Amino acid sequence: MYFDKNSYTVEEITVGSETVRYRAWRDLPYAERPVVPEYQKLNLYAPEDYFEGRDISGYTIENAPVFMPNTVGGYMPGPADEPGEVPNHPGHPNTVFRALQHGYVVAAPAIRGRSQTGGQAPACIADYKAAVRWLRHFAEDLPGDQEKIITNGTSAGGALSALMGATGNHPDYSPYLKEIGAAEESDAVFAASCYCPITNLDHADMAYEWEFKEVFDYHRGGWPSFPAADGEMTELQKAASRRLAAAFPEYVNSLGLKDSAGTALTLDPDGNGSFKKYIEKVVLKSAQRAIDRGDDVSSDTWLTVDAGKAVSMDFAAYVRTITRMKTAPAFDDMTMKSPENNLFGTPRTPCRHFTAFGAANSLVGGETAPAGLVKVMNPMYYIADPHADSALYYRIRHGETDRDTSLAVSAILALKLQEQGIDVDYHSPWHVPHAGDYDLEELFAWIDKICKEKQ
Ligand code: DHB
Repeated sequence: MYFDKNSYTVEEITVGSETVRYRAWRDLPYAERPVVPEYQKLNLYAPEDYFEGRDISGYTIENAPVFMPNTVGGYMPGPADEPGEVPNHPGHPNTVFRALQHGYVVAAPAIRGRSQTGGQAPACIADYKAAVRWLRHFAEDLPGDQEKIITNGTSAGGALSALMGATGNHPDYSPYLKEIGAAEESDAVFAASCYCPITNLDHADMAYEWEFKEVFDYHRGGWPSFPAADGEMTELQKAASRRLAAAFPEYVNSLGLKDSAGTALTLDPDGNGSFKKYIEKVVLKSAQRAIDRGDDVSSDTWLTVDAGKAVSMDFAAYVRTITRMKTAPAFDDMTMKSPENNLFGTPRTPCRHFTAFGAANSLVGGETAPAGLVKVMNPMYYIADPHADSALYYRIRHGETDRDTSLAVSAILALKLQEQGIDVDYHSPWHVPHAGDYDLEELFAWIDKICKEKQ
């Protein structure tokens, strides 16, 4: 590991009508004993204005926040991000471009993923942590304030960001970090920005079936490891759906969730109750924000609007409208074909189960990942753990039409964090599907606010 502050290039790129100039340090290895060396490195960028004595958005080279995006999707390898265009949107500056323009230092790690030998769990979280430790190790020489690291990611990457926020310095990760030769430094981060986190994987199946209860037709576009399909679930899948849905109330009730007024959020054995009302409130708030900015919401017939107020909803009709994407179980698949089965595999056993239900109902006699491995991939286990140094701030966004995981998953994450006194900005943006980085102005306003609060 090294950092030579003089070994940079000054680059200038123009996207559409906008130009950004920055200093770039590329391909910096963040681990002494990398397993996939091309993927255990980071790129560092800083606005060139800082080196010419100008400040940006009130920041200087000393106090600029360090924005730390990952590009992990589908738990696949995520290359180090680069300033440029939004993929498939020529002329539109991407997140790194915008972050530099706004005055952030950007630390963009590449992160191993499940398709690589040595890239299955917990490689992705070990790498993200190793990259943070690298930043701390060279903090004296680096641009920006390494005590203001903000992780950012979408979907599997959003889950990683949440995990970074919840697990700072936890000893569970020490063996993995030692193995790859990460620096002996803190890996706690200041804040975590999480778009539609595909997280709490060992409870996400129940949450999915609770939400999409008795909706048995599924519809999905494809991505390489998850083919496009439309169809009706099999009788076996329907039976699995009913059993998983029936198991969700016990899980929810075991969490002792409360809303901000202190009301217990629970479910009765049928899956109804104050927790469901709370999820409805999240959706109604989403609708209300849309109404308040002038959107026409009349095509959403599951929603009741009275005098400009989103007053109630038909939950079953709402989920029929957004439609089910995945068959049951959505994550720990009975045939072990899901991305998550592969995430929890090994080079010798490419796919494994990771829930008791998956293991007991396996159609392929699959092995099960050890509980300790499932634990280190789930932020929920660390939120109240005194050995974890939590991020002070979270921003969680889960689109109102997202069906990759249940809205309950992000809502439970937000509630648990809030219970620990963590400042959580949580919202379900209207008519937004499974996506991220769609509201950068608001994201940056949040970063600026939290950095000011803790100056
Ligand atoms: C992602 C999406 C999924 O539906 C999933 O199960 C895992 C990851 C993603 O987009 O990263």
